[in-house]
This record gives sequence, C-alpha cells and structure tokens, in this order.
Amino acid sequence: MTISIPVNLANRTYSVEIGQGLLAQAGSRIKALRPNAKIAIVCDETVAGLHLGVLEASLQLSGLPHATIIIPAGEAQKSFAGLEVLSNALLACELDRGDLVVALGGGVIGDLAGFTAGILKRGLDFVQIPTTLLAQVDSSVGGKTAINAPAGKNLIGLFWQPKLVLADIDVLATLPDRERRAGWAEVVKYGLINDPGFFGWCHLNAAAALGGDVTAMTKAVQISVESKARIVAADEREAGERALLNLGHTFAHAFESCAGWDEGVLLHGEAVGCGMAMAYRFSAHLGLCDPKDANLAAKALAKGGLETDPKKLPGAPWNAEALLQAMAHDKKNEGGKLTLILARGIGKAFVMKDAPTNALLDFLQNEVTV
Ligand code: NAD
Ligand code: GLY
Repeated sequence: MTISIPVNLANRTYSVEIGQGLLAQAGSRIKALRPNAKIAIVCDETVAGLHLGVLEASLQLSGLPHATIIIPAGEAQKSFAGLEVLSNALLACELDRGDLVVALGGGVIGDLAGFTAGILKRGLDFVQIPTTLLAQVDSSVGGKTAINAPAGKNLIGLFWQPKLVLADIDVLATLPDRERRAGWAEVVKYGLINDPGFFGWCHLNAAAALGGDVTAMTKAVQISVESKARIVAADEREAGERALLNLGHTFAHAFESCAGWDEGVLLHGEAVGCGMAMAYRFSAHLGLCDPKDANLAAKALAKGGLETDPKKLPGAPWNAEALLQAMAHDKKNEGGKLTLILARGIGKAFVMKDAPTNALLDFLQNEVTV
C-alpha cells in the first residue's frame, strides 16, 4: 500500500508517496507526472552501487530517456566546487524546463541537486527520491535546498519545491545503522515539537522501527511527513511556525561547524539528537520547562541509540566559547540577537528571540566541560 501525503502550496502543490517498492515504480510515476520528460538522475557513488540499477530499469521500462550523473558521497559535495561540477554535468544533459532532475540519495544529494536544479536555466523542475531516513522524514520535503559556505552550513540556498517525492521504505534496508539512528533524531523531533502522542509512540517503537520492522518504520515516516507537510503548507518561507523544525539545530550546527562538517566525524542527525536534548536542558536551566521533561526527551532519544551528552558526542571535546561563536552565525538570528528553539514541555516547542547569551555560555560550559 502506498500512502500519499500532499504538500499544499497552491499551484506548486506536490505529493509525497511513501511505501515499499516505489523505486521500481519510479518510471511509471514520473511518466504520469511528465510524460515527455528527459531525466537526469543525480546520485552518489554509494547509492549508485546499491539502488541506481532499479531506478534506471524502471525509467527504461517506461520509455523515459535518461542520463546519470554520479558524484562522490559526502557533505563536501555541498560546496561551490560541487555546485560547479554538477552544474556543468547537468548543462551537458541539455535539459529544458519540461525535463526533470531526479535526486536519488540522502540529504546531501537532495540539497545539492535541488539547489543546482533551482538555479540552472532560472529553474529546472526536480523529483526527490530520498534514500536515507533523514532525507525521507525531513530534507526531501519542504523545498529547502542549499550548499555550505566557508562561513557556515546551508548559507547559500533557495526554497525550490520538488514536483514529487518518492520515499521507498525498502531502500532503508541498506542504510548503515549509524545513519538510521541519525535519521531517527529527526523523527523524534516531530513529537518533541508539537505531538506528545507521537513522542510516546517513538519512545515505545524506536527499537522495532530501527530494527527493520517495516510497519513501524512506515508509520514513523508517515507521521513525520504529515507533520512537516502541514507546517510547510502553513509557513513555506519560515516566517513563523516553520522555525520550530529547527529544534536542536542551533546547537547541532555549532557542533558540526566545530567538528568540521565536511569531514564525516559527526553526522547531522547525531548533532541534532544531542542538540535537542540540550535545547530541553537549557529550557529547564532557564526555568521554562520541568527538568523531568528534559530527562524524558533525553531518554527517548537514547532509545533510538542517540548520544545526548555532548562530552561523548563524536567530535568532542568542545570549547564552549567556540560553540557560542558558531551559534552567533545561525540564519535564524535577528539584529545580532540569538534566536533559539526552546520548549515548555514535551510537544511544546517555541521560538525564543533574544536568547540570554550569558546564561547560554554558562550552560554550555557546564555541558561540555569534562
Ligand atoms: P547523506 O546524504 O550524506 O547520506 C548519508 C550517507 O548514507 C552517505 O554516505 C550516502 O551515500 C549513504 N546512503 C544514502 N542512502 C543510502 C542507502 N539507502 N543505503 C546505504 N547508504 C546510503 O546524509 P543525510 O543524513 O541523508 O543528509 C544530511 C544532509 O541533509 C546535510 O547536508 C543536512 O544539512 C541536510 N538536511 C537538509 C534539510 C532540508 O530541509 N533541506 C533537512 C535536514 C538535513
Ligand atoms: N529542516 C528544516 C526545515 O525544512 O525547515
């Protein structure tokens, strides 16, 4: 059974399809969307070795002409250099505005291929076929596309919505456990933001979903995408509610920046998992949230195999001043004041503008000092 979730954005509305065996159906589904399109598939070397053949065969069967561009795996591709290589490769495919770029891969491929599609010929349409848990529940939905700059992560980007998202649960079977756990952080995020019932479900079902129970994993992806689709439809450009999706991310981006985000030491989802636990602990530190809820948040994340103590996070040890400095570069900040997503309890996240930096530095020192 395939679950269809619309992302309602007026004439840019699209569907996120979730189910098993979708990669093999990609050709017929893309043909239904754009019968005469020429396709340029973008994927990384790892995903090419595992899943590209099924996609190519499916496009072939549907009579859709296609070319494939394979790039190395890793965050380093989300760079000016990666953009230049992919832009030239896509231009060589001679796509026009009726054609489609298909991003087959994790968040790195989705972000890079989506951004490149968005700027080539003033905008080529694209389809997301996310192959990591993180990409299925978060990055493939909502149209944020970007590359990194030396000054920070995702600083050069576009809102560029895909025309279709195909989330095939079967492709997650080849994902390394560490990547699956990292993606789980973004699943738990939806419970922590505004859905205590789903938070409780995540606590109880983490082991099953991460252990290969397809029903549990499908439900995790479905509830996450429904939640994200609703938020994106209400606030596409992040004027308000969408900022809640950044719960834990200001801490996470600081860890990633200090660890060197293109070196593969710390995975984005790992940083987000720890960052969310810290956002809850900082909320408790400020007296905004019951410390019991901060403990509960950390326990549920730990059930998914996520590290919630920054002293043990890959990339440690950390320097509190360097973390605070990295947080000062966050895109959500306004007028030089720090914006943080904090919480009043489980499922009660809110945006705090002008977060107290002295209290934050004390908190960070306490959290990272061994
Ligand atoms: P990724 O794309 O680097 O994929 C992780 C690793 O898994 C890669 O080595 C990849 O080759 C491999 N892989 C992918 N699918 C596989 C499969 N099915 N089987 C085996 N291996 C597979 O990382 P990610 O965690 O998917 O994405 C992280 C990126 O997403 C970051 O750059 C982050 O900034 C971005 N992101 C974007 C958004 C957004 O809204 N656009 C949201 C969250 C994260
Ligand atoms: N990943 C956060 C967002 O899409 O807004």
